[in-house]
Amino acid sequence: MAEINLLRYYPRAKRKMGKPRSLDPANREAALKFGAEYFDGTREQGYGGYRYDGRWVPVARDIVEHFGLKPGDRVLDVGCAKGFLMKDLMAVCPGLQIYGLDISEYALRHCEAEVAGRVVRGTADRLPFADGCFEAVLCINVIHNLDRNRCIAALREIERLAPSRGYVQVDAYHTEAEREIFLGWVLTAVTFLKPEKWRALFAEAGYKGDYYWTILEADPAWNDFNACDPASANH
Ligand SMILES: C[S@@+](CC[C@H](N)C(=O)[O-])C[C@H]1O[C@@H](n2cnc3c(N)ncnc32)[C@H](O)[C@@H]1O
Repeated sequence: MAEINLLRYYPRAKRKMGKPRSLDPANREAALKFGAEYFDGTREQGYGGYRYDGRWVPVARDIVEHFGLKPGDRVLDVGCAKGFLMKDLMAVCPGLQIYGLDISEYALRHCEAEVAGRVVRGTADRLPFADGCFEAVLCINVIHNLDRNRCIAALREIERLAPSRGYVQVDAYHTEAEREIFLGWVLTAVTFLKPEKWRALFAEAGYKGDYYWTILEADPAWNDFNACDPASANH
């Protein structure tokens, strides 16, 4: 189990928000449907337009190298959304057998053409695949949307499908100030913990794969929210 940032080349997000978007319950309610509003609606209710632009290519290269993936290997992306990372993994490692799972019917209906037929609707805490059938399972910015018990179930599922070969990235904070920023910005996450608490949760679940954090911090230059970690551009 290693702490490793496989999203180090993911671009930083700039956030300009008049007021913390999660203060409005209507924004949270809309986002939690993981439908059109969340992916392709306003920035107050989600991504503000979730469109493919190739930004996952360097991340995909890092993932292939980190796991030593080769053509024919089977990889699962849990919370694959529209399949952007899947598409780029297929491009950087032709012949990789990549599959995706997401709870969002909307995202799967609007997935990239290259991944159609490789995605399935489901939930991270009940993965419909056999034990040990993947060389790697990726789960980026997904399980913090589940409560603590379901997080543990999801981590067990990832470990079951790819023992010691998972990569999980989750929302985390170090300071109270970072936590406040999360509370103002994050619409769908319900479990965000300090790294040491996440490590304890991983251990409790018996999760032995790799992991990293998405941490938001205020950027005084923008007088606004900004990501200190590229992965937080996901939110
Ligand atoms: C912040 S997005 C991250 C998407 C993608 N992994 C990325 O990093 O760009 C969270 C994704 O998790 C999905 N999701 C939320 N709850 C889920 C669950 N219980 N099981 C599977 N996917 C879920 C959402 O539909 C959404 O696609």
